[in-house]
Amino acid sequence: MALFRSFIAVLLMLQIALTIAMVHAQDDQSVFAGFISIDCGIPEGSKYTDKKTGLNYVSDANFIDSGVNQQILSTFKSNTLDFQLSTLRSFPENTRNCYTLRPEQGKGNRYLIRARFTYGNYDFKGQPPQFDLYLGNDHWSRVQFNVSLAVDYEIIHLTSSDYIYVCLVNIGLGNPFISALELRLLDSTMYAKDLRSLNLYARDNFGTTETIRYADDIYDRIWYPTAYSGIRNVVTSSPISLGPSTKEKVPSKVMSTAVTPINPTDDLLYSWKATDKTEVFIMYIHFAEIETLKSNQTREINIYLNGAYWDGPITLLDHTTSTYYTSFYNSSSYELKIARTKDSTLPPMYNAIEIYNPISLQQRQTQDQDATTMWSIKSTYGLKRNWQGDPCVPQDSNWDGVNCSNDTDNLRIISMNLSSSGLTGEINPALANLTMIQSLDLSYNNLTGSVPNLLASLNFLKTLNLTGNNFTRPLPAELLKKAKNGSLMLSIEAKGDQDTNACLKGSCKTKKHKNVVVIVIATSAALFLVLAILTALWITKRRRTHDPSIRDEFIEPRNQCFTYSEIQRITSNFSNVIGKGGFGAVFSGLIGETRAAVKMLSESSAQGYKEFQAEVSLLMSVHHKNITSLVGYCDDGIHKGIIYEYMANGNLGMHLFDASQNVLSWKKRLQIGYDAAQGLEYMHHGCKPLIIHRDVKCSNILLNEKLQAKLADFGLSRAFTTEGATHVSTVIAGTPGYLDPEYYTTNRLTEKSDVYSFGVVLLELITGRPAISADTYIVNWVKSMVEKGSVENIIDPRLHGDFEVNTAWKVVELAMSCVDTSSVERPTMNDVVMDLKNCLNGAKPNNLNHNMSLRLESIGGPNLR
Ligand SMILES: *[C@@H]1O[C@H](CO)[C@@H](O)[C@H](O)[C@H]1NC(C)=O
Ligand SMILES: *[C@@H]1O[C@H](CO)[C@@H](O)[C@H](O)[C@H]1NC(C)=O
Ligand SMILES: *[C@@H]1O[C@H](CO)[C@@H](O)[C@H](O)[C@H]1NC(C)=O
Ligand SMILES: *[C@@H]1O[C@H](CO)[C@@H](O)[C@H](O)[C@H]1NC(C)=O
Ligand SMILES: *[C@@H]1O[C@H](CO)[C@@H](O)[C@H](O)[C@H]1NC(C)=O
Repeated sequence: MALFRSFIAVLLMLQIALTIAMVHAQDDQSVFAGFISIDCGIPEGSKYTDKKTGLNYVSDANFIDSGVNQQILSTFKSNTLDFQLSTLRSFPENTRNCYTLRPEQGKGNRYLIRARFTYGNYDFKGQPPQFDLYLGNDHWSRVQFNVSLAVDYEIIHLTSSDYIYVCLVNIGLGNPFISALELRLLDSTMYAKDLRSLNLYARDNFGTTETIRYADDIYDRIWYPTAYSGIRNVVTSSPISLGPSTKEKVPSKVMSTAVTPINPTDDLLYSWKATDKTEVFIMYIHFAEIETLKSNQTREINIYLNGAYWDGPITLLDHTTSTYYTSFYNSSSYELKIARTKDSTLPPMYNAIEIYNPISLQQRQTQDQDATTMWSIKSTYGLKRNWQGDPCVPQDSNWDGVNCSNDTDNLRIISMNLSSSGLTGEINPALANLTMIQSLDLSYNNLTGSVPNLLASLNFLKTLNLTGNNFTRPLPAELLKKAKNGSLMLSIEAKGDQDTNACLKGSCKTKKHKNVVVIVIATSAALFLVLAILTALWITKRRRTHDPSIRDEFIEPRNQCFTYSEIQRITSNFSNVIGKGGFGAVFSGLIGETRAAVKMLSESSAQGYKEFQAEVSLLMSVHHKNITSLVGYCDDGIHKGIIYEYMANGNLGMHLFDASQNVLSWKKRLQIGYDAAQGLEYMHHGCKPLIIHRDVKCSNILLNEKLQAKLADFGLSRAFTTEGATHVSTVIAGTPGYLDPEYYTTNRLTEKSDVYSFGVVLLELITGRPAISADTYIVNWVKSMVEKGSVENIIDPRLHGDFEVNTAWKVVELAMSCVDTSSVERPTMNDVVMDLKNCLNGAKPNNLNHNMSLRLESIGGPNLR
């Protein structure tokens, strides 16, 4: 059988080759303006002029991506079969397959669209399939075959978009296929009665045996000959002109034949049954007098629909067309009767009839400019994904990686993800025509050249991921400007990323690991977007102060990535636990000669992983002497860890509350408070957007070998994103005892919550008491002591009075102002730093202008959980 089929194929190819050879002489496309003639299933790139019509047919390869070429069995081929019906394209794979037509004349025109299907047992199943035909998102018709195994569907369609999608949808009754697809531009006045689209039900030409189409009909309607009993054919060789009462431009050749009853007293009857009672029909009846009447002869008719008088009396015009049309509603069977009037000396006559079902198509389609851009992108990059039909509809099968606005009247592309799509070459500047796009991901392609400045003109673009390409630098200044002012989140690796061997002994998959973090920052939950913006802004901000020239290295891969095995080696297989962090144990380790602290994320906690990501991305960009610095991280499968500088003296809590430790002197305590305050001040006032630590407490303040204090544990930290926002709503997080009661009750997170927590830390520093002990809350306890006026009893008794009373009062006062229940009454970290500095220098604090006794009234306890 295979042999037999390939033999047919050879024959067919020969035939095509011959016809194609013939074509070139008269390849005058202007004759066919407004026509698209597609022969489905012929070899890609081939074209020919059809012998019968003289129309140029082309292969369908440029109109669709899916499907396979097939041809009907030779037994079904005949001289009468239109040539383009012998091949077909079948669609064994996708459910939905769409041809895209883009007629030059564009939208707002009436087109005739004809889809032709000839089964011809091409699949040897002997059973034609059934499937659905769509125009874009609108159901056009169910394709069903009868014994002839061939069927045409035709629609007259007033388009509201430049793109016409003809889609075949598999409904589980066999593979859809199509033999030919034809589009013809009609004159705008034709069939203009109804704004709805007209689906062809029947088009019959009477009095002939010939099928008429182009070039006799310059609109290439196919007029099938129709004969039935009891009628006599009438034919004229004279041309028939168009009359004033017809707009449908029925060709003269169609009008020059007609039928009349053999029995001159009979009527002409035309009837059919509706398959579906809800179907509505509109009928166009074309009349012309094509006999030459003697002076005593008249032909006058009345028209009846289902037995009821509809129109007349009508006198047919001599060799001139007149068209009558009407609609029927809600009937299951229809009968049109043309009857002679009493005065008529001749029997009735009619020449042609057309019957259509008007159907309302929503024509919900992507806005044209966006559609054009998407098609341009698809062709520029030769994208092989299943991008077909309208980019946005139907919603459940819109283009892969593309999201659209859900606005019925104006479907726009709002995001596009072309990550890892094998794109090469430059960025297609047409992207700048997606004017409503908010998020564009071009990461991990092989794009080169410069990034077009035009992208900066996309006013709604919030996220642009260019990571993993080879763009030339520098990036366009306007794009950088947007990234810096926070209106655009731009992700791109630093220049020279490729040759940075950041990993220990090169054994870790450098690039991949770095990318992991960058992707995480760029695309995970909103939190990381926020942090990445922050990261970008932060670095550029730092750059601006340190290096005035604009640079585009947003996410600086300055920290090392480590594999799990390297971590095992560094920590001597996790032998030395030095603490417990927010999301896992902390181990001591050695990198070369340098000691480091390694915090491993416990595998059990999902929340922990988020915090891990947050902390890595934050620490990668924050650099301050009072914030623990990041040495590296490990993101190796399930093993995640962060490596910090080693803080030899552990956390502040140990020194304050562990009896085995040496007692910190008063001066040392002030210094530690001052250090920690500076770290927080930097986060609140040195960064834009500011960062809220959210978990300030003694155990998160670490001390190095010189007892210099640094803030640690940023797993809960949040950044303000929106310029001008005064708070962020978050799920309550933090540590009881340090938690701002206002935040706890209102859920409104501001930097003043950190000030509150810092106030508690200060109180702990001064008193040597933990925030909560034996059901006593430190704030309430200090308040009661202040009321008694005995500062000596507040200060840590282990100091044995070795402190300066005035300074002590000032620090207590400062701490109590920090823990004011009302956040607006609390000082800023700027104020706190200045006051602590003055205390350290033994000078008078200059920012304590509150009346302490008044404020104490309002101090309440936090909600202890
Ligand atoms: C099959 O097609 C022929 C001609 O195209 C038509 O006359 C006939 O009504 C159709 N039969 C069915 C069952 O649709
Ligand atoms: C989009 O809008 C349509 C109609 O307004 C609605 O039926 C559909 O649920 C919406 N889809 C989404 C994802 O909002
Ligand atoms: C784009 O797609 C990739 C791969 O499917 C995914 O990892 C990434 O998160 C997506 N980007 C966006 C912005 O959604
Ligand atoms: C953007 O759209 C306009 C108007 O639709 C068009 O003229 C222009 O060529 C398009 N730009 C690109 C780069 O395709
Ligand atoms: C990326 O493009 C460059 C330059 O065109 C080429 O040399 C390189 O092989 C490409 N890489 C990949 C992975 O396609």
